[in-house]
Amino acid sequence: MGIVNQDNITDVVIDSLGKSGPITERQREIMTGVIKHMHAFIKDVKLQHSEFLEACAYLERAGKLCNDNRQEFILLADIIGVEVLVDMMTNPVSGNASESTVLGPFYRENPPVLPKGASTIQKHFDNEETAWFEGYIRDENGNGIAGVTLDVWEDAPNGIYENLDPDQPEYNLRGRFETDETGHYAFVAVRPVPYPIPEDETAGELLQFMGHHPNRPGHMHFIISKDGYRPLISQIYDADSAWLDNDSVFAVKESLIGTFKPAAPELGTDLHFEFDFILQTAAAEKAIAAE
Ligand code: BEZ
Ligand code: FE
Repeated sequence: MGIVNQDNITDVVIDSLGKSGPITERQREIMTGVIKHMHAFIKDVKLQHSEFLEACAYLERAGKLCNDNRQEFILLADIIGVEVLVDMMTNPVSGNASESTVLGPFYRENPPVLPKGASTIQKHFDNEETAWFEGYIRDENGNGIAGVTLDVWEDAPNGIYENLDPDQPEYNLRGRFETDETGHYAFVAVRPVPYPIPEDETAGELLQFMGHHPNRPGHMHFIISKDGYRPLISQIYDADSAWLDNDSVFAVKESLIGTFKPAAPELGTDLHFEFDFILQTAAAEKAIAAE
């Protein structure tokens, strides 16, 4: 420890890390970065005490909003592009593997387990367009992978996720599917519509402050997993959706855009959306982590 001044404060705080308690090397690396960058930022903008107190009060309000249905800190991170950047650091683009993108705050554990080809629709809306979603989950050599689990979720045609809408049944438009022996998956759902992320409270204040809109283009969320493969958290986007090139959370990737086509009569839906995913093996994941 030492007597601090403006020049040595950063080193003094970094030196104190782990002095009276356990700290892992990774925790030390992260905390050193946080302290260094935070101090540099404060010096850079000459942060004033009243502004510091304002930030603390804002974060306190954000924390109080968090509950099982609202994770305000993920939302705030999304609005300033932090979750998508963390995802890019966690899952760098590699070979021909499918790209990941943000999880977002609306995933629910343990969705209904449904057979291949079943529908996730539990409530109908006048403006809905039903769609047959299908494709193959393959490895990097092009072989279909059997027994892959796909969790899927999306907003309803009113633009609201079921857990935020008291008028929708529990787990509406959510499901867990499995690929067949050829690696093929299929399910019925609705064409996802663009929707605004929650724009009230602290998330709304941040959006307004930045002069941004809250809208996301229509997308279907996926978590695709199987032992021995790297889990893939991703979304597929409707090529004809509004906001595709101006997503409020910066999560659209070119490779994740697909097209809804009119469905053949035997599918029994309005539309047809085909999309294949390529998973990396867990061994490939270890190799990337070691780089
Ligand atoms: C979503 O896609 O569900 C989402 C992602 C980031 C922020 C809000 C919602
Ligand atoms: Fe979403």
